[in-house]
Amino acid sequence: MKRVTEEELMTDPDQVKAYMEADFSLSEESMVNQLAETLRNYEFMLEEPLILDLGCGPGNISERIASRWRRAKVYGIDDSIEMIRVANERKRLNDRKTSFKRLVYKKMNISSLTTDKSLFKDCADVVVSNSLIHHIHDPSSFFSALINISKNGAIHFHRDLRRPNTFEEVLDIQKRNLVNAPEILVRDFTASLLAAHTCKEVEGYIESAGIKNLSVYEKDDRYIDIVGYISK
Ligand SMILES: C[S@@+](CC[C@H](N)C(=O)[O-])C[C@H]1O[C@@H](n2cnc3c(N)ncnc32)[C@H](O)[C@@H]1O
Repeated sequence: MKRVTEEELMTDPDQVKAYMEADFSLSEESMVNQLAETLRNYEFMLEEPLILDLGCGPGNISERIASRWRRAKVYGIDDSIEMIRVANERKRLNDRKTSFKRLVYKKMNISSLTTDKSLFKDCADVVVSNSLIHHIHDPSSFFSALINISKNGAIHFHRDLRRPNTFEEVLDIQKRNLVNAPEILVRDFTASLLAAHTCKEVEGYIESAGIKNLSVYEKDDRYIDIVGYISK
Protein backbone atom coordinates (compact mmCIF):
# COMPACT_ATOMS: atom_id res chain seq x y z
CA MET A 1 0.00 0.00 0.00
CA LYS A 2 1.34 3.44 -0.98
CA ARG A 3 2.21 6.01 1.68
CA VAL A 4 -0.29 8.89 2.02
CA THR A 5 1.22 11.80 3.97
CA GLU A 6 -0.76 13.68 6.60
CA GLU A 7 -0.26 17.19 8.04
CA GLU A 8 3.16 17.45 9.68
CA LEU A 9 2.13 19.53 12.67
CA MET A 10 -0.77 18.91 15.03
CA THR A 11 -2.05 22.43 15.55
CA ASP A 12 -5.85 22.19 15.66
CA PRO A 13 -6.90 22.76 19.32
CA ASP A 14 -9.60 20.03 19.11
CA GLN A 15 -7.07 17.57 17.73
CA VAL A 16 -4.55 18.48 20.44
CA LYS A 17 -7.21 18.17 23.15
CA ALA A 18 -8.30 14.71 21.93
CA TYR A 19 -4.66 13.59 21.81
CA MET A 20 -3.86 14.97 25.25
CA GLU A 21 -6.93 13.36 26.83
CA ALA A 22 -6.36 9.93 25.28
CA ASP A 23 -4.83 7.27 27.50
CA PHE A 24 -1.62 6.08 25.82
CA SER A 25 -0.05 5.11 29.13
CA LEU A 26 0.56 1.44 28.26
CA SER A 27 2.44 2.19 25.05
CA GLU A 28 4.30 5.10 26.67
CA GLU A 29 5.41 2.90 29.56
CA SER A 30 6.55 0.22 27.15
CA MET A 31 8.51 2.80 25.14
CA VAL A 32 10.27 4.24 28.21
CA ASN A 33 11.03 0.76 29.61
CA GLN A 34 12.63 -0.17 26.30
CA LEU A 35 14.63 3.07 26.41
CA ALA A 36 15.79 2.18 29.94
CA GLU A 37 16.91 -1.22 28.65
CA THR A 38 18.87 0.49 25.85
CA LEU A 39 20.55 2.92 28.27
CA ARG A 40 21.31 0.34 30.96
CA ASN A 41 25.04 0.06 30.31
CA TYR A 42 25.85 3.70 29.60
CA GLU A 43 27.71 5.34 32.44
CA PHE A 44 27.13 8.86 31.17
CA MET A 45 23.54 8.43 32.36
CA LEU A 46 24.97 8.74 35.90
CA GLU A 47 26.17 12.26 35.11
CA GLU A 48 24.05 14.97 33.49
CA PRO A 49 23.08 13.75 30.04
CA LEU A 50 21.26 15.94 27.54
CA ILE A 51 18.20 14.10 26.25
CA LEU A 52 16.14 15.42 23.32
CA ASP A 53 12.56 14.24 22.78
CA LEU A 54 11.71 15.16 19.17
CA GLY A 55 8.05 15.82 18.29
CA CYS A 56 7.22 15.85 22.00
CA GLY A 57 3.54 16.84 21.59
CA PRO A 58 1.92 17.49 25.00
CA GLY A 59 5.00 16.08 26.76
CA ASN A 60 3.79 12.56 27.58
CA ILE A 61 7.19 10.96 26.93
CA SER A 62 9.32 13.99 27.97
CA GLU A 63 7.68 13.97 31.42
CA ARG A 64 8.28 10.26 31.90
CA ILE A 65 11.93 10.65 30.89
CA ALA A 66 12.46 13.64 33.20
CA SER A 67 10.91 11.70 36.10
CA ARG A 68 12.99 8.60 35.48
CA TRP A 69 16.42 10.17 34.75
CA ARG A 70 16.48 12.96 37.30
CA ARG A 71 19.98 14.21 36.56
CA ALA A 72 19.23 14.59 32.87
CA LYS A 73 18.48 17.88 31.17
CA VAL A 74 15.49 17.05 28.96
CA TYR A 75 14.34 19.14 26.00
CA GLY A 76 10.96 18.44 24.38
CA ILE A 77 10.86 19.85 20.87
CA ASP A 78 7.75 20.42 18.76
CA ASP A 79 6.78 23.01 16.16
CA SER A 80 3.09 23.16 17.11
CA ILE A 81 2.37 26.23 19.25
CA GLU A 82 -0.68 24.49 20.69
CA MET A 83 1.24 21.34 21.69
CA ILE A 84 3.99 23.41 23.34
CA ARG A 85 1.38 25.52 25.14
CA VAL A 86 -0.30 22.38 26.55
CA ALA A 87 3.06 20.82 27.48
CA ASN A 88 4.11 23.97 29.36
CA GLU A 89 0.73 24.21 31.07
CA ARG A 90 1.01 20.61 32.30
CA LYS A 91 4.52 21.33 33.53
CA ARG A 92 3.29 24.44 35.37
CA LEU A 93 0.53 22.42 37.10
CA ASN A 94 3.18 19.96 38.28
CA ASP A 95 5.74 22.55 39.30
CA ARG A 96 6.32 20.89 42.67
CA LYS A 97 7.89 17.92 40.91
CA THR A 98 11.58 18.70 41.15
CA SER A 99 12.35 16.44 38.18
CA PHE A 100 10.41 18.83 35.91
CA LYS A 101 12.76 21.70 36.77
CA ARG A 102 15.24 20.24 34.27
CA LEU A 103 12.58 19.78 31.58
CA VAL A 104 12.32 22.51 28.93
CA TYR A 105 10.01 22.75 25.91
CA LYS A 106 11.07 24.47 22.70
CA LYS A 107 8.91 25.37 19.72
CA MET A 108 11.14 24.37 16.88
CA ASN A 109 10.86 22.52 13.57
CA ILE A 110 12.86 19.32 13.14
CA SER A 111 14.11 20.69 9.79
CA SER A 112 15.84 23.55 11.66
CA LEU A 113 17.94 20.95 13.51
CA THR A 114 19.76 20.10 10.27
CA THR A 115 21.73 23.37 10.11
CA ASP A 116 25.11 24.37 11.54
CA LYS A 117 23.36 27.14 13.47
CA SER A 118 21.07 24.73 15.30
CA LEU A 119 20.98 25.33 19.04
CA PHE A 120 21.58 21.61 19.59
CA LYS A 121 24.38 20.97 17.09
CA ASP A 122 26.61 18.12 18.40
CA CYS A 123 24.96 18.42 21.83
CA ALA A 124 22.71 15.42 22.47
CA ASP A 125 23.75 12.39 24.52
CA VAL A 126 20.42 10.67 23.88
CA VAL A 127 17.78 11.36 21.22
CA VAL A 128 14.30 9.84 21.32
CA SER A 129 11.06 10.23 19.45
CA ASN A 130 7.70 8.57 19.75
CA SER A 131 5.12 8.60 16.97
CA LEU A 132 6.87 11.39 15.06
CA ILE A 133 8.56 10.09 11.93
CA HIS A 134 5.37 9.33 9.98
CA HIS A 135 4.41 13.03 10.27
CA ILE A 136 7.56 14.22 8.53
CA HIS A 137 7.09 14.53 4.78
CA ASP A 138 10.78 14.24 3.94
CA PRO A 139 12.28 11.53 6.19
CA SER A 140 15.81 12.32 4.94
CA SER A 141 15.62 15.65 6.83
CA PHE A 142 14.79 13.74 10.04
CA PHE A 143 17.86 11.50 9.72
CA SER A 144 20.11 14.40 8.79
CA ALA A 145 18.84 16.23 11.92
CA LEU A 146 19.75 13.16 14.02
CA ILE A 147 23.34 13.29 12.77
CA ASN A 148 23.60 17.06 13.29
CA ILE A 149 22.38 17.13 16.90
CA SER A 150 24.21 14.00 18.12
CA LYS A 151 27.41 14.01 20.11
CA ASN A 152 29.81 11.34 18.91
CA GLY A 153 28.31 8.07 20.18
CA ALA A 154 24.87 9.53 21.03
CA ILE A 155 22.27 6.87 21.80
CA HIS A 156 19.06 6.78 19.78
CA PHE A 157 15.68 5.23 20.42
CA HIS A 158 12.82 6.09 18.04
CA ARG A 159 9.47 4.34 17.97
CA ASP A 160 6.89 4.97 15.29
CA LEU A 161 3.89 3.35 13.65
CA ARG A 162 4.51 0.88 10.83
CA ARG A 163 2.49 1.09 7.63
CA PRO A 164 0.33 -2.03 7.12
CA ASN A 165 0.22 -3.83 3.77
CA THR A 166 -3.46 -3.20 3.04
CA PHE A 167 -6.24 -0.81 3.96
CA GLU A 168 -8.13 -3.74 5.53
CA GLU A 169 -5.22 -4.19 7.95
CA VAL A 170 -5.35 -0.46 8.74
CA LEU A 171 -9.02 -0.78 9.73
CA ASP A 172 -8.33 -3.94 11.65
CA ILE A 173 -5.55 -2.32 13.73
CA GLN A 174 -7.67 0.75 14.28
CA LYS A 175 -10.65 -1.31 15.51
CA ARG A 176 -8.47 -3.43 17.81
CA ASN A 177 -6.72 -0.47 19.39
CA LEU A 178 -9.25 2.34 19.56
CA VAL A 179 -12.38 1.14 21.28
CA ASN A 180 -14.89 3.90 22.04
CA ALA A 181 -12.39 6.60 21.06
CA PRO A 182 -13.48 10.08 19.94
CA GLU A 183 -13.99 10.38 16.18
CA ILE A 184 -11.13 12.84 15.77
CA LEU A 185 -8.69 10.37 17.35
CA VAL A 186 -9.89 7.54 15.09
CA ARG A 187 -9.47 9.84 12.05
CA ASP A 188 -5.93 10.82 13.07
CA PHE A 189 -4.87 7.26 13.92
CA THR A 190 -6.07 5.99 10.52
CA ALA A 191 -4.28 8.86 8.75
CA SER A 192 -1.11 8.11 10.74
CA LEU A 193 -1.10 4.42 9.77
CA LEU A 194 -1.42 5.43 6.10
CA ALA A 195 1.40 7.99 6.48
CA ALA A 196 3.74 5.59 8.29
CA HIS A 197 6.78 3.86 6.79
CA THR A 198 7.69 0.21 6.40
CA CYS A 199 10.82 -1.25 8.05
CA LYS A 200 12.41 -1.61 4.64
CA GLU A 201 11.83 2.05 3.81
CA VAL A 202 13.33 3.14 7.13
CA GLU A 203 16.40 0.94 6.55
CA GLY A 204 16.76 2.67 3.18
CA TYR A 205 16.63 6.17 4.74
CA ILE A 206 19.27 5.19 7.30
CA GLU A 207 21.55 3.80 4.63
CA SER A 208 21.09 6.89 2.41
CA ALA A 209 21.96 9.12 5.38
CA GLY A 210 25.22 7.14 5.79
CA ILE A 211 24.38 6.09 9.36
CA LYS A 212 26.02 2.80 10.30
CA ASN A 213 24.86 1.79 13.77
CA LEU A 214 21.08 2.18 13.85
CA SER A 215 19.03 -1.01 13.61
CA VAL A 216 15.37 -1.30 12.68
CA TYR A 217 13.00 -3.78 14.36
CA GLU A 218 9.35 -4.69 13.95
CA LYS A 219 7.59 -4.34 17.30
CA ASP A 220 4.14 -5.80 18.04
CA ASP A 221 1.44 -5.50 15.38
CA ARG A 222 2.05 -1.86 14.50
CA TYR A 223 5.37 -0.36 15.56
CA ILE A 224 8.89 0.12 14.26
CA ASP A 225 11.78 0.59 16.70
CA ILE A 226 14.97 2.28 15.56
CA VAL A 227 17.74 1.67 18.08
CA GLY A 228 21.49 2.24 18.21
CA TYR A 229 24.05 5.02 18.23
CA ILE A 230 25.51 7.57 15.86
CA SER A 231 29.26 7.91 15.60
CA LYS A 232 30.79 10.90 13.84
C1 LIG B 1 1.59 12.02 17.25
S1 LIG B 1 2.34 13.35 18.06
C2 LIG B 1 3.42 12.52 19.17
C3 LIG B 1 3.61 13.27 20.44
C4 LIG B 1 4.51 12.64 21.50
N1 LIG B 1 5.80 12.26 20.97
C5 LIG B 1 3.86 11.44 22.16
O1 LIG B 1 4.38 10.33 22.04
O2 LIG B 1 2.83 11.60 22.80
C6 LIG B 1 3.48 13.97 16.84
C7 LIG B 1 4.01 15.36 17.17
O3 LIG B 1 5.07 15.70 16.25
C8 LIG B 1 4.98 17.07 15.93
N2 LIG B 1 5.67 17.31 14.65
C9 LIG B 1 5.40 16.75 13.46
N3 LIG B 1 6.25 17.16 12.51
C10 LIG B 1 7.12 18.00 13.13
C11 LIG B 1 8.22 18.78 12.67
N4 LIG B 1 8.62 18.74 11.39
N5 LIG B 1 8.88 19.56 13.56
C12 LIG B 1 8.49 19.59 14.87
N6 LIG B 1 7.44 18.88 15.36
C13 LIG B 1 6.76 18.10 14.49
C14 LIG B 1 3.47 17.33 15.86
O4 LIG B 1 3.15 18.70 16.00
C15 LIG B 1 2.96 16.47 17.02
O5 LIG B 1 2.90 17.21 18.21
